[in-house]
Amino acid sequence: MKLIWYPAVSLDGYIADARGSSDFVTPEDDRQFTKLAVSAGAVVVGRRTFDQYRGQNYPIPGTTTYILTRNRDILSYDPAIVYVTGGPMELMRRLHDDGHATAVLSGGGQINGLFAEANFIDEAWISVYPIILGAGTPLLGSYKGSLRLAFRAGYAFPGGVVHNRYEVT
Ligand SMILES: NC(=O)c1ccc[n+]([C@@H]2O[C@H](COP(=O)([O-])OP(=O)(O)OC[C@H]3O[C@@H](n4cnc5c(N)ncnc54)[C@H](OP(=O)(O)O)[C@@H]3O)[C@@H](O)[C@H]2O)c1
Repeated sequence: MKLIWYPAVSLDGYIADARGSSDFVTPEDDRQFTKLAVSAGAVVVGRRTFDQYRGQNYPIPGTTTYILTRNRDILSYDPAIVYVTGGPMELMRRLHDDGHATAVLSGGGQINGLFAEANFIDEAWISVYPIILGAGTPLLGSYKGSLRLAFRAGYAFPGGVVHNRYEVT
């Protein structure tokens, strides 16, 4: 199972502003994210991110959205929406059992931190935005550990977005 992390982050390290909005994300970046998600077939998000973007960004047609939650009472009758309790290990097991070779980790901050801490991220595709938000949701939530990355490729997207691809070493 390969897990590709694809966050959109401000220059000062936030994935959403103080109001919880990621409206700085550009249509081109969104297209690239969707393309990757569809080719992988599976997207991983935290419950807060899913609730915020449900019906707007998620579920992405042709993909299954896996949502991490501690709430055992949330049920889904849609096979494209899968709630997983028990943490990142349980979610990785579920992806494997469902036959996914690759999945895309979208966020938000808490979930990014959990997967980074568990060392489950294989690649990081990071879009850096030319904006200073000053406050908001940190890239890795409250996680304060480190990740070592080896640069593999970089692209300039319209709007001054620098998209870098790394392998987690
Ligand atoms: N720019 C980007 O790339 C990007 C991408 C995605 C999201 N975002 C932004 O990120 C923000 C949301 O991030 P967030 O950090 O507040 O929330 P989040 O990571 O999306 O979701 C947090 C939720 O995950 C569940 N969770 C956390 N730890 C868990 C564990 N150990 N086991 C099982 N479930 C666990 C909990 O759900 P329950 O409360 O249900 O238990 C928790 O409330 C939003 O503003 C969104 O717009 C930005």
